[in-house]
Amino acid sequence: MLEDIDRILISRETIARRVREIAQQITHDLCLEEEGPPAELTLVPILTGSLIFVADLIRELPLKLQLNLVSISSYSGTKATSRGAAVEQSLTKLPESMAGTHVLVIDDILDSGNTLRAAIVALHHRQPASIRTCVLLRKQRPEAMAFPVDYVCFDIPDVFVVGYGLDYNGYYRNLPDIVTLRPEVFRRR
Ligand code: XMP
Repeated sequence: MLEDIDRILISRETIARRVREIAQQITHDLCLEEEGPPAELTLVPILTGSLIFVADLIRELPLKLQLNLVSISSYSGTKATSRGAAVEQSLTKLPESMAGTHVLVIDDILDSGNTLRAAIVALHHRQPASIRTCVLLRKQRPEAMAFPVDYVCFDIPDVFVVGYGLDYNGYYRNLPDIVTLRPEVFRRR
C-alpha cells in the first residue's frame, strides 16, 4: 500500500492541529449563537469518507451532541472523480422533524458540491434550528470554491487524494496522511 503513494499532501500532524482549531471555532460559534452550549446539537456525518475526520473532530468538541450518520453516494469508488455523477440519496435514517436542533453536516471533501447540496436539501425539510456545514477538504476548482460552506479545514489543489478516510476503489482509507497516488495505480484497472 505505501509503495502506491506519490506524495504526502497533508501530514497527520498538520491534520490533527487543524482539526483541533476547527473544533474550537465550531464550539465558539455554537455557544455564541445560543449564549451557551446548544441544547440540541446533532452532527450529520456523510459516510464513508468522513469517518476518521468525524471520529477525531467529535473528541475535540466539548459539547453535548448526537451523531446521525447518513450516506449519499455521488461517486462510484471506481473512478477518480465525482464530477457529473448522479447523487443517490439515502438519508432516510434522519428523524422526520429536527425542530430546535442545531445541525452540523460533515463531509470529507467538497468537489462538485452535489453531495453537500443533497444533504442540505434533505435537512431543510426537517426544519432544524440551524444548519452548518464542515468539510475536511475543499478542492480549488470553481464549483467548490463558489459553494457556501461554514468550515473548511484545508483547501487543496484539484487533484485526487486518498487517506484519512478517503478512498480509491475502497482502498487507502486507513492511511493516516492525506496523499496523492502514483499514476500507475489508476492504470491498473
Ligand atoms: P462532490 O462532487 O459531491 O464530491 O462535492 C464529494 C464526494 O466525492 C468523492 N470525492 C473524492 N474522493 N478523493 C476521494 O477519495 C478525492 O479526491 C475525491 N473527490 C471527490 C468523495 O466521496 C466525496 O464525499
